[in-house]
Amino acid sequence: MTQSHALNYSSYLRLDKILDAQEPRSLANPDGMEHDEMLFIIIHQVFELWFKQILHEVDFAKEQMVVGNIGKVQHVLKRIRSIIKVMVGQVDVIETMTPVEFSAFRDRLDAASGLQSYQFREIEFSLGFKRANVLDRYEESSDIYQQLNKRLNEPSLWDAFIQFVAQRGYAVPEEYLKEISTSEIQSDGAIIDVIEEIYHSDHELTGLCETLIDLDEGLLEWRYRHIKMVQRTIGMKPGTGGSTGAMYLMASLDNPIFPDLWRVRAKL
Ligand code: HEM
Repeated sequence: MTQSHALNYSSYLRLDKILDAQEPRSLANPDGMEHDEMLFIIIHQVFELWFKQILHEVDFAKEQMVVGNIGKVQHVLKRIRSIIKVMVGQVDVIETMTPVEFSAFRDRLDAASGLQSYQFREIEFSLGFKRANVLDRYEESSDIYQQLNKRLNEPSLWDAFIQFVAQRGYAVPEEYLKEISTSEIQSDGAIIDVIEEIYHSDHELTGLCETLIDLDEGLLEWRYRHIKMVQRTIGMKPGTGGSTGAMYLMASLDNPIFPDLWRVRAKL
């Protein structure tokens, strides 16, 4: 192998691609690029990389759940929780951009918006927060549509958890073992009873329930920080994606992914 083909830091990490992927739209301004647009692009790219890692870990957690390797599931879910905490912390960085600094290039974004982040939707779907109408934002023939459709129709982390709990002998209603839901997880009294029993008698599964609620709370924390970031940057202006902006986002705070892990608390 010649020296030029030897693996090195840059080639292993494909830095040629990653560091060439920032194209501020304001570069086209007659008086030069808006300084803060670089931060705006990089922070979104960093989040998308974390989203990719989370999906990688959720897929692995599901596989390990199916084979009953709960130790490994816990290990991976705790890693995801750590990533979410880092994501929440990173909101501080983008909050150093003032409303005036953002306004200087916001028009350049046209209709581009986080609303179109397909990896974010994939995370929601893979955990169990499925909403089929999200697919309407993408061309049916596109790879993104196909990828989301695949995740919509495959078992979520919650499905894998419920199946595992059933295998352990808990009284999970039959329908959960036969059908894969393609909508949000609905609260169910029978599942709440199962979780209640787990909390009173099963230390290992209690630990798993606690880690799952950690993830749910972590994502809600991210949503909350994102809303506050939006409010301090654009106030109550509508979003570039066509939603009402902060008003639209606030509704998501009432939607935990695993509703019964929250409801059961009132009975414990
Ligand atoms: C100044 C910074 C930001 C502002 C002003 C902002 C604004 C908004 C607004 C207004 C929406 C609602 C949808 C619409 O556009 O109509 C939205 C959605 C979203 N944004 Fe941001 N955002 C910012 C930073 C970020 C960052 C850094 C990320 C990281 C990936 C992000 C990810 C998302 C996601 C995933 C959604 C969809 C949320 C959902 O539908 O539940 N945003 N953003």
